[in-house]
Amino acid sequence: MDSFSATSARMPALRSSIDNDPSRYRVLTGERPTGQLHLGHYVGTIRERVRLQDAGVETFVILADYQVITDRETAGAVRENVYSAVLDYLAAGIDPKKSAIFVHSAIPELNQLFLPFLSLVTEAELHRNPTVKSDLLSSGRALNGLLLTYPVHQAADILFCKGNLVPVGKDNLPHVEVTRSIARRFNERYGEVFPEPEALITKTPELPGLDGRKMSKSYGNTITLAMSEDETAQRIRKAPTDSERTITYDPDSRPGVSALLDTASVCLDRAPEDVADEIGSKGSGALKALVAEAVNESLRELRQRRSSLVAADAADVLKSGNRAARRIAVETLDETREAMGMIY
Ligand code: TRP
Repeated sequence: MDSFSATSARMPALRSSIDNDPSRYRVLTGERPTGQLHLGHYVGTIRERVRLQDAGVETFVILADYQVITDRETAGAVRENVYSAVLDYLAAGIDPKKSAIFVHSAIPELNQLFLPFLSLVTEAELHRNPTVKSDLLSSGRALNGLLLTYPVHQAADILFCKGNLVPVGKDNLPHVEVTRSIARRFNERYGEVFPEPEALITKTPELPGLDGRKMSKSYGNTITLAMSEDETAQRIRKAPTDSERTITYDPDSRPGVSALLDTASVCLDRAPEDVADEIGSKGSGALKALVAEAVNESLRELRQRRSSLVAADAADVLKSGNRAARRIAVETLDETREAMGMIY
């Protein structure tokens, strides 16, 4: 069994444990602010975060700004992206009174954990990591040290606050596996400091982009949370389909049509085949109209709330989130250095 199937098999037990005692868990999760957040983020993890937060699980949300430069030359519009993501979170229902939203670069003590953690992994392990390999390929660039060590800084992100529950998409699962090894190895060498976090995968781990490829800003195949309804409809109208009139769900041979069906499926909470049957021979125009309506309907409230927020709201939220995260990072780093005998 691969680690995705193994993790999936654990989900029912994990979910009932969370329901029974949410106070046992601390969630750490987040995004790389490489662009605006999109529907894939929303259905993949943001919705789940809000549910966990509302169920009483303490939640930390990281905007991993340093990780933007794992696969590109500069951080680009990182500040705009961070502020935009904070507004998306707030509009989606992340409540800053219950959840800390913070930025990677604002927490030096978190980043310092990276050093001892680096000693706990081998070069071969890092080269084997499937996410590192696929990010490397899609970047079209030489492998830099930050990308190679991606799983190790992600381990620091998770372990600085002793996060023990990590809602992630399928592509980040290998990082959680590395985090578990790092926690275990640290504890074996120096004494018990870190929990071994569990990955929580949602029912829709990977929504394809509108053209059936991986969702990516550079492909222009995403629907961002910040888009207007007209922009959304326009982007869906431009999505590539094929010349066959009858709509059927077949991701391998009909990637465009199937991606549209997947998109409708997550918004309507219906099987993609069922949506395909409803459209039948009405063709891709009718399918696109249905998808646009489904997406706009499911994001309508979020977008209304988003439009009532301003940049200053994001700045305030980050300031208090950074403060809360930093307080915990200082404590964990002290504990870590103490375990290692580095007390001066
Ligand atoms: N790597 C994640 C992504 O690509 C973002 C991230 C950074 C993250 N640190 C994390 C996710 C810690 C979960 C836990 O989206």
